[in-house]
Amino acid sequence: MTGQMRHWDHVYTKGTKFSGGPSDFGLRAIEMMEAKGSVDVLELGCGQGRDTLEMMARSMSVTAMDYCSLACTQTAQEAHTRGLSGLKVIAHDVREGLPFDDDSFDVCFSHMFLTMELEDDEVGRIMSEVHRVLRSGGLHLFSVRNDHDDRFRQGIDHGSGMWEWNGFVVKYWTRDDMDRFSAGLIVEDVWEFYEGDPPKTLYGVMMRKP
Ligand SMILES: C[S@@+](CC[C@H](N)C(=O)[O-])C[C@H]1O[C@@H](n2cnc3c(N)ncnc32)[C@H](O)[C@@H]1O
Repeated sequence: MTGQMRHWDHVYTKGTKFSGGPSDFGLRAIEMMEAKGSVDVLELGCGQGRDTLEMMARSMSVTAMDYCSLACTQTAQEAHTRGLSGLKVIAHDVREGLPFDDDSFDVCFSHMFLTMELEDDEVGRIMSEVHRVLRSGGLHLFSVRNDHDDRFRQGIDHGSGMWEWNGFVVKYWTRDDMDRFSAGLIVEDVWEFYEGDPPKTLYGVMMRKP
């Protein structure tokens, strides 16, 4: 395990529950998916599945990934407890690529995953992989912390826009990063929102594969 992977494993081992329900960002993204009639969703960095389970409850077919196997187990157990069947949850480091055929999904969704410990070249490769596995017209819906956040440039500088605070490494995106990392996807919408207390400042992003 690398440093941040160990960190997340520790968080989930402690039994910390992030939320009993879906995130506001997840709910907004689900509205966008439903408007498009999306069925097949790939989720990156699902954690304990607060948004995964909501997508399943709305009859979407979800393949969820997280590099922390304990988070995957907790998500699968919660799906079972709620009587939601058909979840595919895979323990996988997304930096190693996406193990799916081209044109496999209608949507790639992630909440606060692309804001994790990722070098610029790793983000570039992940975005190219997302482009490859999305069908034409497919959506990439994701959220990231941004450079308006109070913690931006606080703590230990890891380069590539990443700063470590309290053991967590966070990558802070600028508005220009959306175009820099779009990898052939069209940037259709970027909006700012806040989550948590004290509030984190994030961008929500919708990109579309032409
Ligand atoms: C901030 S949490 C968000 C979890 C979930 N999306 C939510 O909103 O509750 C980020 C998640 O990304 C996972 N993660 C970080 N880097 C990863 C990587 N390279 N591959 C797969 N998962 C990763 C962590 O284990 C963690 O569960």
